[in-house]
Amino acid sequence: MKEGARISTIPTRDDGRPTRRDVLTAGLGGLGLAALGLGGLASKQLVAQPLVYDLPTPAPPDVALALALAPTPACVDQPATDPSEEGPFYAPNTPLKTDFRRPGHRGRELVLRGRVLDVRCRPIPGAVIDLWQADEDALYDNIDYGYRGHQFTGPGGEFEVSTVFPKGYVILGMARSPHIHVKAQGARTKLLTTQIFFPEDAESHARDPRFNPRLVADLRQTASGPPVATFDFVLEDA
Ligand SMILES: [Fe+2]
Repeated sequence: MKEGARISTIPTRDDGRPTRRDVLTAGLGGLGLAALGLGGLASKQLVAQPLVYDLPTPAPPDVALALALAPTPACVDQPATDPSEEGPFYAPNTPLKTDFRRPGHRGRELVLRGRVLDVRCRPIPGAVIDLWQADEDALYDNIDYGYRGHQFTGPGGEFEVSTVFPKGYVILGMARSPHIHVKAQGARTKLLTTQIFFPEDAESHARDPRFNPRLVADLRQTASGPPVATFDFVLEDA
């Protein structure tokens, strides 16, 4: 079976019936799209959905906090992270979760970490970062929140999730390089909806019309743990 082929077919149980998870995650043929109410996907780009989580109320300006969050001298300002298509698999109200790994998974483990910053290079504590991805079999889980969840950034704008590398897939004839979807928003920022990619997938980047070289994470091997991908998200002011 070609890579991504499962995304356009519906795997079945031993009795020949598709499973609920399979229909709602892998069923991207006509039947799957109909089941999801996504029949218009082929002809239109989906509008990005808002986050539903309560953002912390911004604290009043505080001198000590301003000093603690002062930009580093190397960065005066920076462009906001490029947005990218939300795609059809976003689910709101995901669990608060920093470990996506499914027990018994067969994927290659990965730690994804980074910071959420503003365009003046200041960390944004308490920002929501919501991530979702295909699993090691190129399947999205829209029922049990597998490989998806949200968290709030720490005092330095930091986030981290333990997961596995997503597998690339083909959707409606479009090749997708492995990627992780992200939504991020701070109390005083616009919502960013984007995707990040991995440097080791250069061959599939070339086939993916959604690939953006500015959205490639830094990927480092570690001596004893899984590889660490790092990406900082920069959000526009509201
Ligand atoms: Fe995707």
